[in-house]
Amino acid sequence: MTEQQQGAVYAPDAAFAAHAHVTAQSYARDYARSVQDPVAFWRQEGQRIDWIRDYTEVKDTSFAPGAVSIRWFGDGTLNVAANCIDRHVATRGSQTAILWEPDDPQAEAKHISYTELLEQVSRMANVMKAQGVQKGDRVVIYLPMIPEAAYAMLACARIGAVHSVVFAGFSPDSLASRINDCGAKMLITADYAPRGGKKTPLKSNADKALLDCRDDVKCMVVKHTGDQISWVQGRDIDVKAEMAAAKPYCAYVEVGAEDPLFILYTSGSTGKPKGVVHTSGGYLVYAAMTHQMTFDYHDGDVFWCTADVGWVTGHSYILYGPLANGATTLMFEGVPTWPDAGRFWAVCEKHKVNQFYTAPTAIRSLMGLGPEWVEKYDLSSLKLLGTVGEPINPEAWNWYNTHVGKGTRPIVDTFWQTETGGHLITPLPGAIATKPGSATKPFFGVQPEILDPATAEVQSATEAEGVLCIKDSWPGQMRTLWGDHARFEEAYFSQYKGYYFTGDGCRRDGDGYYWITGRVDDVINVSGHRMGTAEVESALVAHEKVAEAAVVGYPHEIKGQGIYAYVTLMNGVEPSEELKRELEAFVRHEIGPIAKPDLIQWAPGLPKTRSGKIMRRILRKIAENDHGSLGDTSTLADPSVVEDLVANRMNRG
Ligand code: WT7
Repeated sequence: MTEQQQGAVYAPDAAFAAHAHVTAQSYARDYARSVQDPVAFWRQEGQRIDWIRDYTEVKDTSFAPGAVSIRWFGDGTLNVAANCIDRHVATRGSQTAILWEPDDPQAEAKHISYTELLEQVSRMANVMKAQGVQKGDRVVIYLPMIPEAAYAMLACARIGAVHSVVFAGFSPDSLASRINDCGAKMLITADYAPRGGKKTPLKSNADKALLDCRDDVKCMVVKHTGDQISWVQGRDIDVKAEMAAAKPYCAYVEVGAEDPLFILYTSGSTGKPKGVVHTSGGYLVYAAMTHQMTFDYHDGDVFWCTADVGWVTGHSYILYGPLANGATTLMFEGVPTWPDAGRFWAVCEKHKVNQFYTAPTAIRSLMGLGPEWVEKYDLSSLKLLGTVGEPINPEAWNWYNTHVGKGTRPIVDTFWQTETGGHLITPLPGAIATKPGSATKPFFGVQPEILDPATAEVQSATEAEGVLCIKDSWPGQMRTLWGDHARFEEAYFSQYKGYYFTGDGCRRDGDGYYWITGRVDDVINVSGHRMGTAEVESALVAHEKVAEAAVVGYPHEIKGQGIYAYVTLMNGVEPSEELKRELEAFVRHEIGPIAKPDLIQWAPGLPKTRSGKIMRRILRKIAENDHGSLGDTSTLADPSVVEDLVANRMNRG
C-alpha cells in the first residue's frame, strides 16, 4: 500500500447509503440519543424482539468497585429460540433459515427452512428433556459445523438450558475441564468432524474427556460421517435415532431476561479459561441490532459469517443475531483452502452471498496464494465485506477491497470481544467513512474512553493513546464469570475503577477514529483465536522434561501473532529437535492444535529480576527480533542470561 493509500478515507457510496439502515445523519442523531438517554434509547430498541412479559425496567447497571452488577430489561421474560424461530414461521416459514455448506464440495448443501428448523429444534429439545435436561442445567456442545450444532444450541435455549460450546479443535483435557467447571449434565458430540478432507475423532476425544468427569454426564452422539466409534451402553445416546422417534413439537419455556443463555470459555491473562456468561434478553437485542446495522442486513439477503460456532462470533453472527432478524444464515463446515484456495469464493458464487464476514488471518493466507483464485468466480452478489478478530493490516485490507470487493463494497472492521456479546466499535456502512485498519466509531450506546495506563486518567483530547475502556454498560455485555463473580470484577473492573477494561491498547486520531493496537495483557491473538500465554506455559511445564517455560507472542505474517516459547529443561536433559517435536505434540495434546508453539527456544535461564519475577518485556523484544532496544535491564539478576537468549533467538525475520 502506498503512503497515499494508507491515509485513505473511503466515504460511504451514495447509492449504498440511500438504502442503508443507518445514514450519517441518523448515526449522529441516534448515537447522541443513545448515550444521553440510554434508558429511553434501549426501551425502544428492546422492542425489536418479542417478549412474553414486557419489561418495565430497562437499565440497572453499576461498574462500581466491589459492587459490579449488570441487568438489562430485568423484569421482562422471553424465549430466545421462539424469537429466532417461531415468530418467523408464520411470515417466512418456507424461507431458508440455515443454509448449510458441507466440507465436501461434491456433497449436497442443505436448505433448512424456518418451519423445518422449528421441527428439528423441537425434536432435539424433546430428546434432551427425555434425558432429564431441565431449565438452568448446563449442556456442553462439542460438534463440527453441522446443522445439529445449531439445533443443539437452540434446543437448549428453547428449554432454558445453558449451553457451553467447546470448539472442536480443543483437546480432551480442555473439554473435560470445561464440562467440570460448569457442572454440565450432558455432552453433545459427533462421531467425527470432517474439515478440509481430514477427520477429527470427536467421539474418541469425548470418551477420553468423560473419564475425568462425573459418571452421570450423558453423552449424545450425532452420527455424522457414519465411521466406526466406540459406544458406552447406558451413557451414549444416538441423537439422530432419538430425534426421529421424538415428537416434532416442543413448547418453549419462559425465561427471565437475566437468565443465562450460554457460557463461553475464553483465555485470560492468568490461570484457567474464564467462563463468560451471557444472559437472554439484552444479549439477543444487541446481537440482532448489531447484525442488522453493522452488516446493513435486509430481508432476503444471504449472510455468511465464516467463524466456527465454537467462538462468540459464531454465536452472535451465525446463529442468534441473524435468526432473530429472520435472516438466511450460511453455515460452512469446511476451510478456506480445501479442496483449493477458491473455496470461499466458490461458496459465495454458489449461494449468492450478500454479506461476507471473515478474519484477517484467512485473508492473509489466501492472499499469498494469488488473486486468480478469487477472479475465477462471480462475486457480483456481494454487497458488503466484514472482518473481525484482530487488526487488519493495510496489505490485507487492500487485497480484500480490490479482489473480493472490486473496490466498490464497504468493508466493516468490527472490534469486539467474547465478553461484549456484539460489536463495540465498528463502521456502520452507510454512515461512516472507513480508514483501512481502523474500527472507526462506537456502536450505539457504547462509550469508549482512552485512559493513561500509568495514571488511569481519562484522555479527554480527541487525539490520544492508551488503554481502551468503556464507560457504561450496553445490553450485550457479559454479566459475570461462571461461578466466580469476584474474578469477574478483578479481571475487568479493578484496574480502572468505574470502567470496563477491554485489555486492548488503542489510539484515537484527530477525527475521533479508534485504532486498536493490540492486547496490553498476557493474552495473544493467534489466527484470530485468543490464547493465554499462561495456559501454554502451564501445559509446557506439565511435561516431565521441562523445568520452566515462558511464552510470548511475536509478529507472524499469516497468523497475526505466533506463539514463541522459551523452555528451560530439567537438569541433565539434552535439548534436541526431537524434543521440540515432542513438546509441540504435548501442548497440542494438553490444550489443542491452536496452542502449538510456532517457535521453541531452549533457554538455559530466563531473565528475572532479583525478586525472581520473569521480565516478559525482554522476552517479547527478543521474540520480536527487536533485541537492539531491550530497554532497562539494570534490574536483571543475571544479565548473561539475556546475551544467551539474544544469540540463540529463533526469529530473525
Ligand atoms: C480480542 C477479543 C469477538 C471477536 C472475535 C475475537 C481482538 C477483535 C478486533 C478488531 C483489532 C480486534 C482484540 C480483542 N480483536 N476484533 N476488529 N481489530 N483487534 O474475540 O477471542 O474474545 O478476542 O480480539 O484484541 O480484545 P475474542
